[in-house]
Amino acid sequence: MKRIKDIRPLKWTGKSLLLLDQRKLPLKEEWIECTTYECVAKAIEDMVVRGAPAIGVVAAYGVVLGAKELTGEAKNYVEFKAKLEVIVNRLAATRPTAVNLFWALRRMKKIINAGSDISDIVQALETEAISIERQDVETNRKIGYFGAELLSSREVILTHCNTGALATAGYGTALGVVRAAVELGKEITVFVDETRPYLQGARLTAWELQQEGIPYYLITDSMAGWFMSLGEITCVIVGADRVARNGDTANKIGTYTLSVLAKEHGIPFYVAAPTSTFDLSIDSGVEIPIEERNPDEVLYCHCRDCRIAPYGAKVKNPAFDVTPHENITGIITEKGVIVSPNEETIVEFFEKE
Ligand code: MRU
Repeated sequence: MKRIKDIRPLKWTGKSLLLLDQRKLPLKEEWIECTTYECVAKAIEDMVVRGAPAIGVVAAYGVVLGAKELTGEAKNYVEFKAKLEVIVNRLAATRPTAVNLFWALRRMKKIINAGSDISDIVQALETEAISIERQDVETNRKIGYFGAELLSSREVILTHCNTGALATAGYGTALGVVRAAVELGKEITVFVDETRPYLQGARLTAWELQQEGIPYYLITDSMAGWFMSLGEITCVIVGADRVARNGDTANKIGTYTLSVLAKEHGIPFYVAAPTSTFDLSIDSGVEIPIEERNPDEVLYCHCRDCRIAPYGAKVKNPAFDVTPHENITGIITEKGVIVSPNEETIVEFFEKE
């Protein structure tokens, strides 16, 4: 079996959280050290760390740092709990779309509510954050395994945004499927689209694939349809930020367009996501909050030193779109693949658990 490099975007030291600054990649590998929950919250807002599973893991460590900051400051459990709730709310307000953030914070809140001794709670929170991180890597390996089984011995996979080790605690979701297929000896080529405006494809996915020697072509977003029409792409695999009860899936802006193009060209379109990305409390994608980001991301090149539009240009910059479930061939999770996702298949899948 081919060995794949173990890229990690975060490291918990016991006292601080080290984050690989993804804004600097691929040109520089710099780490930021967070010792406070506010540092973690800002790191999520400012895209030091991004990707649905990664922000969940990092927010969990943010709660641990916040709880440690309160030790000694809070006079009793009631005060500690009230102050920690404010911290949890601050972390929850960093980004609205990826449900993994709220899922991880819910797990941390359960620990806070179950305890009464402050130092025991702090210890239990740390244990929980570490287990969220470890479980994420295990989950991604299982997603990779189930996804790789769907692929033939030779595939040309188009992927969007960055769903790799950098977007998770390690290994990745959609890119985890690529990794697993390569580990199994399949002949995989990846088409990486740039993913305007934030360029997660060009900067991050290309960087990860390069580190591992997995063959890829970088293309601009607008080239995808053309390569599909030429028969050069055999399959599309993307990640997800939130999957509604009926299978509608929010993911990086541009995913919806790719799903329409894949349908038009009869190419399988897979979503790879952990079950923690499902939000069964909402009926459809209409209810998913879509983050609107700073217009400067569209008005300037990523490195911010050159403006590419006239002054006064009005901008819309939704960070995500919703792919209707009808366009999705299957959702690859750590518990198996949901083929032709819809409310019935999804509810049945979760009832089996
Ligand atoms: O804005 P980002 O970079 O956080 O968006 C990331 C994505 O849309 C990913 O595709 C998604 O979070 C899945 S990551 C495994």
